Amino acid sequence: MNNFIFHNPTKIYFTDEVEQSLEFELSKYGKNIVLVYGCGSVHKNGIFNQIVKILDKLGKNVAYIDGVMPNPTLEKLNSGVKIAREHKADFLLALGGGSVCDYTKALAVSINSSDDYWDRYFINQLEPNCDVVSLGCILTMCGTGSEMNGGSVITNEKTHQKIGKVFNDKRVFPKFSILNPKYTLSLSKYQMINGIYDAFNHILEQYFSKEDDNVSDYLAEGLMRSIISSSKIANKNPNDYKARSDIMWASTLALNTMLHCGKNGDWMVHMIGQAIGGFTNATHGATLSAISLAYYEYIMPYNIDKFKRFAINVWDIKDNKSDEEIAKLGLFAMRDWMSELDLCMNIKDLLVDESLIEDIANNVFILNGGYKELNKDEIIHILKKSF
Ligand code: NZQ
Ligand code: ZN
Repeated sequence: MNNFIFHNPTKIYFTDEVEQSLEFELSKYGKNIVLVYGCGSVHKNGIFNQIVKILDKLGKNVAYIDGVMPNPTLEKLNSGVKIAREHKADFLLALGGGSVCDYTKALAVSINSSDDYWDRYFINQLEPNCDVVSLGCILTMCGTGSEMNGGSVITNEKTHQKIGKVFNDKRVFPKFSILNPKYTLSLSKYQMINGIYDAFNHILEQYFSKEDDNVSDYLAEGLMRSIISSSKIANKNPNDYKARSDIMWASTLALNTMLHCGKNGDWMVHMIGQAIGGFTNATHGATLSAISLAYYEYIMPYNIDKFKRFAINVWDIKDNKSDEEIAKLGLFAMRDWMSELDLCMNIKDLLVDESLIEDIANNVFILNGGYKELNKDEIIHILKKSF
């Protein structure tokens, strides 16, 4: 295995006893809290009132940043930084999904920064050189893993760049995250399935990467089997608490840095998906599902053995066929599962116009942790295949 340091400082409360957990955690921080949330779901499902009541009871002095949109923008970050600076924030509390958590991390590293934070963190991929304001999350939508990692993805609408920074600095990780599966039950089916596919793809990105057959691969196979099984149940009955709680925890484990130990990670589906997101503002999970089959079909010849293992260990393919045929059957099984969930399977449905393909390809960051380092023509080929 590659050398690694595993240190994940986020404390997880997997519980429906939100009040006790929040009271205990927030008693450690100062009075000035900034509560960050999205575009209204927490008002509709009543979670906002529950949390504000707890903050009132604790005597906190609260400022609000509302309207954090899916795929949060740099412009929104700028306005939030002003609010948090004026409030002299002691602690940032994210209430929402990956977008709200990511946004709150970006705030945490920008409030005390004297640099241009877009350039520093996202363009130049640097770590913070200032005080980072502590943050915690109350998760209402699962899939991204943002609740237990250092990732933050921000979109610059002016340049059509959607860029993720994975912070290594442990101060950027949430101090705690409260995962209450009941909070996710009000999600639309569309958001639920896209969150499921996002988590699944995080595992694929780490599974199909250069260093094979280590501990992570066995963990990955177990997690994928769990997601396939619980997603089928949740797809038929979104109120199935057991399935929804399994999905929530599997999503966290899929991207909490553990699977990455000893591996590089591919991440090219995410790089292409993010480039699509920069032009379309499409739902993150849908940008991944739309290109996945074309991508994996393309890279399969570069490691047939691993795709064969995927077919057998994840999809229970037992046919007595050639390695290549078994590998293909694995991808067919994945396609069938994706169709069963009704995931988006082409970029046309994301309103990508064919004339945009070249621009999208130009904005893809090319990484080299997978089985095949792509060039721009290959990315265009995959995008066209996904059309
Ligand atoms: O804004 P509101 O009104 O709250 O509605 C949200 C939003 O429209 C809604 N929602 C959330 N919880 C709900 C709910 N609706 C009803 N009931 C609830 N309980 O769901 C919609 C999507 O929310 P969002 O937070 O955007 O989704 P997700 O968690 O998928 O986050 C997506 C963002 O995370 C980034 C993506 O690129 C995207 O910007 N990612 C972050 C990663 C990380 N930090 O490691 C990794 C991922 O690969 C991903 O790139
Ligand atoms: Zn993702």
